[in-house]
Amino acid sequence: MSNSLLDSKRIVLGVSGSIACYKSADLASKLTQAGALVDVILTEAAQQFVTPLTFQAVTGRTVYSDLWNRDGHVQHVKLGESADLLLVSPATAHTLAKLAQGFADNFLTVTALAARCPVVVAPAMDGGMFAHPAVQENVALLRARGVVVIEPKEGRMASGLVGKGRLPETAEMIGHIRRVLGRNGVLAGKHVLISAGPTQEPIDPVRFISNHSSGKQGVALAQAAVDMGAEVTLITGRIHEPIPFGVNHVQIQTAVELHDAVMAVIQEQDILIMAAAVGDFRPKNPATQKIKKEMDGVPTIELTRNPDITVAVRAWKAVNHAELFMVGFAAETQNWLENGQSKLARKGLDLIAVNDVGGTQTGFRSATNAITLLGKDDLMIEIPLQSKEAVAEAIMKQVAKMLTV
Ligand code: C5P
Repeated sequence: MSNSLLDSKRIVLGVSGSIACYKSADLASKLTQAGALVDVILTEAAQQFVTPLTFQAVTGRTVYSDLWNRDGHVQHVKLGESADLLLVSPATAHTLAKLAQGFADNFLTVTALAARCPVVVAPAMDGGMFAHPAVQENVALLRARGVVVIEPKEGRMASGLVGKGRLPETAEMIGHIRRVLGRNGVLAGKHVLISAGPTQEPIDPVRFISNHSSGKQGVALAQAAVDMGAEVTLITGRIHEPIPFGVNHVQIQTAVELHDAVMAVIQEQDILIMAAAVGDFRPKNPATQKIKKEMDGVPTIELTRNPDITVAVRAWKAVNHAELFMVGFAAETQNWLENGQSKLARKGLDLIAVNDVGGTQTGFRSATNAITLLGKDDLMIEIPLQSKEAVAEAIMKQVAKMLTV
């Protein structure tokens, strides 16, 4: 699962002594799998819970623990200066206090003082300790200094008590890391609105008309936009994909709801990407009670047209003289080039991603995709078969390129 944002990034992972240490081994492993170079520093207390060997095995790199060994006094400066990100996870109350006060009594704290990169801390502690004013003041001090604090989760803790103090799971941690690493990217300061997934048009309270869209490509686009520093709003129909961290998520069901959700926030956007598979028709008069086969026989369902959201945005854009970069998708099974080109013009798009949904490796539900991007002035870019994440990155890079020229 190599990823271009994390690839070759130098992440220093400081681990202090909490029972949540074991979660950081998984985090170090996942970051390494994504291509990051993870240098782990263990405090003395952390080594009571996990060993350097655990981290060495998952990162394939030297693990640092002893400041007072032969090279320790120079290594911390090298590590601190060359890092793209310093993450302290779990950060105990004690380590937070030391970081807040600028203590320099172990490898982790001296590295933190030498670091010139973004610093992220993930506090984890038991028994209501996180709520203590001393801890809260230290956290506030770190925040004021620009440190990103990943709030602990509520839940059951090692002591059996329930409270706020749990370290978030790996996927969420990586979401935070991506957000911080991407924050100065080419789309920093840009607002991106992405729609994804299917719409569902009710026939009665238990049935609906829908389509095979999984939302995978749109969700991947949202993550790619976050990675490039954008503020992302993601409007989805009912999908099973996890929503990327740091995205403002709006849930809809029908095409009309999608239309309203898009129009409600369109004014703040710089880029609109319509990746949703919007139903063209909906039942004209959905039944208010479940249609019964015994009583109602075989029903005839009269359909009516749904609004074309992209066309509505185009009209809004013209009236308001808005600068909005618009990207659409065209799911095609035949004549894809002609159909794509005509949609580009009819919907007033800057770019259209033409998707062959007829194959088994492309389009709805598949993990991979292949796309042809069409734009004005005969622009045509082939994005060959690869993961939907990689396709999303390629699309977002093209959008950024066209926006900045
Ligand atoms: O016309 P067609 O449905 O093939 O166009 C696809 C593009 O238009 C997609 O970007 C889709 O999200 C968008 N669309 C829309 N409103 C509709 C139908 C499609 O905005 N009612």
